[in-house]
Amino acid sequence: MAVLVTGGLGYVGSHAVKHLVDRGEQVVTLDNLIFGHTQAASGSEVVVGDIGDKDLLRQIFSKHSIDSVMHFAAFADVGESVADPKKYYVNNISNSLAMLDVMLEFGVKMMIFSSSAATFGEPEIVPIPEDHPKNPTNPYGRSKLMLEEILREYEHAYGLRAISFRYFNASGADPSGLIGEDHKPEHHLIPLILQVALGQREKISVFGSDWPTPDGTCVRDYVHVSDLAQAHLLGLDALRNGKGTTEYNLGNGNGYSVREVIAVAEEVSGKSIKSVDADRRPGDPAVLVASSEKIVKELGWEPKFPDLRTIIQTAWNWHNTHPNGYSGK
Ligand code: UFG
Repeated sequence: MAVLVTGGLGYVGSHAVKHLVDRGEQVVTLDNLIFGHTQAASGSEVVVGDIGDKDLLRQIFSKHSIDSVMHFAAFADVGESVADPKKYYVNNISNSLAMLDVMLEFGVKMMIFSSSAATFGEPEIVPIPEDHPKNPTNPYGRSKLMLEEILREYEHAYGLRAISFRYFNASGADPSGLIGEDHKPEHHLIPLILQVALGQREKISVFGSDWPTPDGTCVRDYVHVSDLAQAHLLGLDALRNGKGTTEYNLGNGNGYSVREVIAVAEEVSGKSIKSVDADRRPGDPAVLVASSEKIVKELGWEPKFPDLRTIIQTAWNWHNTHPNGYSGK
């Protein structure tokens, strides 16, 4: 049986594809190449197209014996989602619903869904457990929460079982050095810091230094992208063994401030990284740290790269050898 991976040429999706291929799964990767990179396919069969294209999906499901879908494809820029919510609800919700229609038509009833810590909003308790109240502060987070809720109803009504993984701050790169993070434009902290280390950017702006945290900068839970990918394999196995719909947080339970991340990146790269204090970024919670006890207990998830230094080391290896990402120039 094959696994269909949507958004499989993007950052987290491509790491999951590599893990699937490495353990001998048959993988069909569907990506519209808005943000994906064909070089990130790890030998999987690539179909270029959109999750909202029902005819294309019917062709894929007719041609391959697909038992499950890993659904990464989505827009994921928090700031943009506030400025243009339509874009997020159309792609992340309507297009996902179109894909779910075709899955049901073909009797494909297992899905792993890429959700986000952005479903929680400002936390009331840290580390954040799965059952923490959900008050997303932006349309991106709301679109992820809505699909989680839809998936719960689809299990009840149609028997489609889904595991939603709420990623905290995905970071790092596959230790092989073959795939890594390449967003254009880049908004994420670690790659931006490493661009400063590479001399591609003059400085990093620290978004707020007056947050209620020990050094005044935002605290996040950075989780290695390969550990996220490994969780997807465990989730797939659980679904194949009959697991019902549920949600899991994926983080390390350790919070690091923006300044701490910069300091570790300086040590790892051996470069001095210039930073300037800037205004707070609207919509940023002060602290986002996961409790991932549920997946550790239920699926035996064991992160291999939990410490920030290793995470940044693997990111640095990638950026240093691919200063222009996959374009190679
Ligand atoms: N930051 C800076 N300067 C920058 C970029 C980021 O100070 O130039 C700060 C941010 O304010 C934040 C931290 O660095 O405090 C991390 O920022 P990222 O943009 O790397 O990540 P976020 O925590 O904002 O967002 C990530 C994912 C989102 C997801 C969110 C919650 O990128 O998709 O986690 O799950 F919604």
